[in-house]
Amino acid sequence: MAVILIIIVSLYLCVIPDLSILALTEYQICFNRSVPVLTDEQRLFMTLMHYYDNHTRPVFNASHAVDVYMGITLTQIFDVEEKNQVMTTNVWLDQEWWDEKLKWNPDDFNGLKMLRVPCHTIWKPDIILYNSAEDYTNGYMQALAMVSYKGKVFWPPIVKFRSTCHIDITYFPFDDQLCHMKFGSWAYDGFQVDVFNRSNPIDLSNFVSNGEWDLLSVKAERHVVKYPCCPEPFPDVTFSIHLRRRTLYYMYNVIVPCIMLSVLTLLVFWMSPDSGEKVTLGLTVLLAFSVFMLLIAENMPATSSFVPLIGIYLTTIMALTSMSVILAVVVSNISNSGHREKALPPFIRAVVILLSKVCCIKLRFVNRAVCDGQIIQCASKRNSQMFYKGNSNNISHDSGCGLIDFENGEPNNGRNLERANKRRDDRGENRELNELLCKVHEMMCRENDRDKNDYLCKQWQEVGIVVDRCMFWIFVLGTSMSTIYLLVIMPMTKPDKTS
Ligand SMILES: *[C@@H]1O[C@H](CO)[C@@H](O)[C@H](O)[C@H]1NC(C)=O
Repeated sequence: MAVILIIIVSLYLCVIPDLSILALTEYQICFNRSVPVLTDEQRLFMTLMHYYDNHTRPVFNASHAVDVYMGITLTQIFDVEEKNQVMTTNVWLDQEWWDEKLKWNPDDFNGLKMLRVPCHTIWKPDIILYNSAEDYTNGYMQALAMVSYKGKVFWPPIVKFRSTCHIDITYFPFDDQLCHMKFGSWAYDGFQVDVFNRSNPIDLSNFVSNGEWDLLSVKAERHVVKYPCCPEPFPDVTFSIHLRRRTLYYMYNVIVPCIMLSVLTLLVFWMSPDSGEKVTLGLTVLLAFSVFMLLIAENMPATSSFVPLIGIYLTTIMALTSMSVILAVVVSNISNSGHREKALPPFIRAVVILLSKVCCIKLRFVNRAVCDGQIIQCASKRNSQMFYKGNSNNISHDSGCGLIDFENGEPNNGRNLERANKRRDDRGENRELNELLCKVHEMMCRENDRDKNDYLCKQWQEVGIVVDRCMFWIFVLGTSMSTIYLLVIMPMTKPDKTS
C-alpha cells in the first residue's frame, strides 16, 4: 500500500516539479525510470524552466550586458502615405541573443540540441520601433523562440509596422524617399541590453514588389544615442529603406494629359479672333488644369515646406494659359479696332512689320498706306452739300474729293473736259448736271469710305494675326522650355538622398 502511495506522490511531483527541493529529488527518480513518463522535450523544458524567471535579464553577472543581434527581412511595403507621412511594411523582425540560463548538455536529452519554447516563457529584450506611428498596445506576434543548447535564442516574429517617415515630395512624381526604421530597447540602457546589427546585407529574397514604389536598397546602421533623461547610452539599429516612385502611373494620368492640354493652349493662337471661341477654349483648358491640380493636391501632404515639381509645372502651365486668355482678348480687341475706324499708328505699323519679318509672315495690307493709289480722299458730307448749292468753280477747290479742278484746267481725261466745257456754255442746265454730278460724287465717296474702312479692318486684322503668330511662337518656346526644365532636367539633377 505504502509503495503505491509513494509512486503516486512521486508521479504527481514529476508533473508539478518546482515546489521544493524535495520535488527535485523526486525528479531524479523520474529520470532514472526505465519507461519514461515524460518526453525528452518536456523533460528539457521542465529542467530549463525550473529556476527560470522571464522578468530578469539572463546573465549571471549583472555587470554584463545582453547582446541582442537584430535584423529585418523585408517582405512587403504595403503603403507609403504621403499625407500622413507613414510607411507601412511587413517585416520579419529577427532577434538573437544569448541566454545564460538556457543551456544544457544534448547528451542528457537524446541529442536534443534545439528547443522551441513559447516566447512568453522566456526573457525577451523589449525591442521596439522608435518611430512607430501606431500606439504600442499591440505586442508582437507570439512566435515560438528557438533555443539552442548553447543558450542562443532566436526569435523572429512577423510584424506589420507603421513607421513615420519624413516624405519629401519636392520632386514628385520623380521622387526618392528614404524611410528609417529605428529599433532599440526601450527601457534597458546600453550597459544592460546592447543592440547590434545582425543582417547586412538585408535579406530581400522574400520581398514582394510594390506597384507604386521600387525598392532601391535597405541599409542597416548602429547608433549610440544619449538622451537627456539618463546618463547611460542607448544603442539602436536603424534600417534605411530607399524607395523610388514608379512614374508610369503619373506619366499616363497626369503628365501626358498636362502636355496635351498645354498643346491645346497653343491652339488658342491659331483661332480666328472673329469666332469668339478663343477665350472659351483658353478658359476650358484652364478649368481642366484646375481639375488636375485638385487631383494632385489630394495625394499631397498638406504642407507648405515643399511644393512638388508637378505643382510648379501645373502652375506654370496654368499661368501660360491665363496669359493666353488675356492675349486672346487683347488680340480680338486689336482685330476689331478697324471697325472703330481707327487708323493704324505708324509706331505700331513699324513694330508689326518688324515682327512679321521675325515670324515669317507675308503682310498684304499693313505695309501699305491707306491712301495708296486708287483710294481717294473723300469729302465730308457738308462739302458735298455745298457742291450743288454754290458756285461749282469755287467749291471744287475745297471739296477735297480728289475731283478735277476744272478752273485750273487740269482734267484727268477728255470726257471730263468736254463736260466742263458744256457746263460753262450752258449755265441754265448746270444745276441739274451739278446735282447729278454730286450724286455720283456722293456715291463715290461712300464707296471710298467703305473701301477705306474695309482696308482699315483688314490692316487691323493683319496686326492681330501677326501678334497671334508671334505669341504662338513665344508660347511654344515657353511651354516646351518649362516642360523640359521641370519634367526632365530638374528630376535628373535632384540630389542623391543616400549620400
Ligand atoms: C562581473 O563582470 C565584471 C566585468 O566583466 C568583472 O569585473 C567581475 O569580476 C565579474 N564578477 C564575477 C563575480 O565574475
